[in-house]
Amino acid sequence: MSLYSIEDVRRLVEAAQQPETPFLILDGAAVRENARRFKAAFPDGQVFFAVKANNDPTVLQIFNEEGLHFDVASWGEIRQLAGYGVSASRMVFSAPTKLPRDIARAYEYGLRRFSFDTRIELEKLARLAPGAQVIGRVAVDNNGSHWPLERKFGIEPGQEVEHMLYARELGLEPYGLTFHVGSQNKDPQAWVRALERLSPIWNELEDRGIQLQVIDAGGGYPTHFHEAVPGVEEIAAAIRSAFERLYGNKAKLWVEPGRGLVGNAGIMAATVINRATRGEREWLYLDVGAFQGLIEGLDFYGFQYPVISERNSEPLAPFVLSGPTCDSADVIHHQAMLPAGITLGDRVYVLTAGAYSNSMERYNGIEFPETVVVGLN
Ligand SMILES: Cc1ncc(COP(=O)(O)O)c(C=O)c1O
Repeated sequence: MSLYSIEDVRRLVEAAQQPETPFLILDGAAVRENARRFKAAFPDGQVFFAVKANNDPTVLQIFNEEGLHFDVASWGEIRQLAGYGVSASRMVFSAPTKLPRDIARAYEYGLRRFSFDTRIELEKLARLAPGAQVIGRVAVDNNGSHWPLERKFGIEPGQEVEHMLYARELGLEPYGLTFHVGSQNKDPQAWVRALERLSPIWNELEDRGIQLQVIDAGGGYPTHFHEAVPGVEEIAAAIRSAFERLYGNKAKLWVEPGRGLVGNAGIMAATVINRATRGEREWLYLDVGAFQGLIEGLDFYGFQYPVISERNSEPLAPFVLSGPTCDSADVIHHQAMLPAGITLGDRVYVLTAGAYSNSMERYNGIEFPETVVVGLN
């Protein structure tokens, strides 16, 4: 799907019936279409939506209606899905590091499939989710991705077999292997390389008497920011052919898309609340920024949201786009091309804002710590 035009956006804004900005529009038809495309691209696989990417109730209901499964990262996400009648058998707890109390609650709810990447996590699982089916997160190269995840996650390379044997020793069921090629990965071969990296581990485990059942090929599917990206059909074709070659019908294939299922469907509607000339640069201040859902625009993440405005007849000029907070880091774009005369009160639409935006209010479904004021007397 290409980017929304201003006419598309106007139609959606009208349907949203919001008197004031900011608000995040989610195009339910696009969300549903994404779900159908992923399901069709993996006809023999199982698609788990990574709830962390967008936890809006309606979005989750659409995926539920479309028969998707869910990758969860906390008890908060499980509880939310449980409220929509999603059974534990349609969930996988894929966060490799979990809060101990969340493991216990998930297990009590009936969830049995958990990822891990350390011995300590296995020991936690053996204690709090005895007999659970465990999926080892393997570190793979994240080349081709915009946002690599390889540093923080994955069993120390070379120790994967030993970890799975330890899982068995602890009374857990070694169930599968998983990986993540990094978010917004535009190279279908990244998944192929990862499947090739897992294959000797799978085979050695077989030789050691452990028959795994699942390969979970994670997320990473890209969405359209400024340039066209490979569609899920192209990436799925590469995955399925490598999967067939390396695992035949010995394994079940799972995938865990987040961004690819929701990113293109979101539009943040904003209003200009100030404008300034600072040295050589023109600055625009919006009524929404990094701390209200556009966090991936920060330099640290470096995603460049496409931005359009209601004024589209003038010549374009580059603007620094800032959020409304007093934090100087609250800049979501350094070079947004917008009409030169744009000013106070003008509407701006930030496109491709459907992933990792609204879910940042309680990211991964994990509660913000309570504040307790003490020392009052
Ligand atoms: C375990 C796991 N699975 C899936 C995803 C979804 O990734 P993406 O949004 O890149 O598809 C993530 C993202 O952080 C993840 O940590």
